[in-house]
Amino acid sequence: MVRILLLAVVAALISGSQGANILGLFTSLSPSHLIIQMSAVKALAERGHNVTVVTVLQPAVSDKDINVIRVPLSAEESQYLSDLFAEMSRNDDKNMLYAMFRMFGQMGFMSQKMADAFKDPRVRDLYDNKENRFDLVLSGFALNDYQMGFAQKVKAPLIVLATMPPGPLLNYLIGNPGELSYVPGMNDSVEKGEGMSFTQRLNGYLMGLGYKLFSRMIERRSQKYYKELFGDDPNMPEYSEMMKNASLVFFASHALSEGPVRPNVPGVIEIGGIQIKDTPAPLPQNMEEFLANATNGGILLSLGSNVQGKHLSPDTVHKMFNVLSKLKERVIWKWEDLENTPGKSDNILYSKWLPQDDILAHPKIKLFINHAGKGGLTEAQYHGKPMLSLPVFGDQPANADGMVKKGFGLTLNLLTLEEQPFREGIEEILSNPKYSQTVSTFSKLYRDRPLTARESVIYWTEYVIRHHGAPHLQSPVMHMSFIAANNLDIYAILAILVVVLLLLTKAVIKFIIRKLSSKSKKVKKQ
Ligand SMILES: *[C@@H]1O[C@H](CO)[C@@H](O)[C@H](O)[C@H]1NC(C)=O
Ligand SMILES: *[C@@H]1O[C@H](CO)[C@@H](O)[C@H](O)[C@H]1NC(C)=O
Ligand SMILES: *[C@@H]1O[C@H](CO)[C@@H](O)[C@H](O)[C@H]1NC(C)=O
Ligand SMILES: *[C@@H]1O[C@H](CO)[C@@H](O)[C@H](O)[C@H]1NC(C)=O
Repeated sequence: MVRILLLAVVAALISGSQGANILGLFTSLSPSHLIIQMSAVKALAERGHNVTVVTVLQPAVSDKDINVIRVPLSAEESQYLSDLFAEMSRNDDKNMLYAMFRMFGQMGFMSQKMADAFKDPRVRDLYDNKENRFDLVLSGFALNDYQMGFAQKVKAPLIVLATMPPGPLLNYLIGNPGELSYVPGMNDSVEKGEGMSFTQRLNGYLMGLGYKLFSRMIERRSQKYYKELFGDDPNMPEYSEMMKNASLVFFASHALSEGPVRPNVPGVIEIGGIQIKDTPAPLPQNMEEFLANATNGGILLSLGSNVQGKHLSPDTVHKMFNVLSKLKERVIWKWEDLENTPGKSDNILYSKWLPQDDILAHPKIKLFINHAGKGGLTEAQYHGKPMLSLPVFGDQPANADGMVKKGFGLTLNLLTLEEQPFREGIEEILSNPKYSQTVSTFSKLYRDRPLTARESVIYWTEYVIRHHGAPHLQSPVMHMSFIAANNLDIYAILAILVVVLLLLTKAVIKFIIRKLSSKSKKVKKQ
């Protein structure tokens, strides 16, 4: 009650930007990105704003008040995309950077489709039709910076919405420091109470260079699309200028609890867990009953939205089924093709679609078997459920390593999965209370914030709308060259001064020695 009253007071205080027109550009081809992005704008729609979004995929999270302009893929393109994810799931890349370089060509397809969405007449109409008026643009980050040009087209301030923590792929948008010597890049592997060792720093530095190179390649591609989409308008700023226009970036992380501990500029707003409901919704009846009857507890198995059951080798699926069907716990298994399930068993319920967040909130769930996607890990952390991760590609292996390091569970390689380690992993997590205790303790820390993720999205979005952008938050480094930002010119001058001083000293000493020795010679001769 007190909380509701407090919320009402906060709401009254920060009103004044009610009923704004907000445009979300969420063309990413990754369903998990879209869940986070749509969850953020759902909070805004529920608050009474008029939200319009552009997407390519069908959003899983929606709201009757969100106006969705969807530019779908053709059937062949969807097939190609599905094959692409299947190919990624067959390659066992420990290193995300390496995988990104390897997939650069294929990622071109995704970039092209994202850019094509902006050529749709309904999307162009958003800026061509002067009737439309937007107070804010939310640009969903997916290596597609060119779409930031849209904000300029509709003359609205811009917030970038990222589905990852601050890091090398995003820091440049707001001048956030990299601090490679003590902020681990994508692999959060620094022990508490310790610094980074020489090898970790060297590794981090080299990875940092790799990401810079990768960003450059992406930037060139992005620049090309920027020209293609907005090049006909002489009033558009240069691409490099447009890239300095983000007022804030929303990140799907929460460094206060998750780490890494690092300095951030004020434009970093962390909204990790935005996709999680404050109070879980009731489960579909069949799942509720299935879990209610699970006297030995339940397990949720979901390998995410990119990798589908059919992408896994039949052999692996068979091994997983053999282990799961013999457990006394009940298992809810996300499986798309209900005609061809891995096998029938009384303790397994297959479902094409899962309200994952709501299931994880269920008190009967004792274990979450997942693919270490950021979204699923976040939900399990929030609900305090231990995990067994079977990562495949992208950031998943590093996410899984981080999860194990924090003590929330175990990880196994999906591509080389064998029955025995799989069974032992499950049994260890179910029987040893340390995993569930550690993650429950973390859950309390993760939820303890001055503003919830939803409140942060609402507050900072309305803040930018109220002030028509946030140039006062911008770091001066956004307007400095690499040399100036790193004081390289000053170091150079200092180095020159030192050299000149040394040379001078040397000359003076030589001069004195010569004087002295010629004197002593004169003395000897006499
Ligand atoms: C909401 O925004 C859309 C897109 O600009 C616009 O067409 C519509 O009229 C707006 N609705 C309201 C109620 O303002
Ligand atoms: C973006 O930056 C350009 C150049 O600095 C400026 O003219 C423009 O008003 C900015 N646009 C937005 C949407 O912030
Ligand atoms: C759950 O148990 C009840 C009562 O024992 C039974 O009627 C129902 O069919 C069971 N449901 C499931 C899904 O097993
Ligand atoms: C992360 O770092 C740890 C320890 O340095 C290492 O064992 C692990 O392989 C790394 N994981 C990835 C995905 O790079």
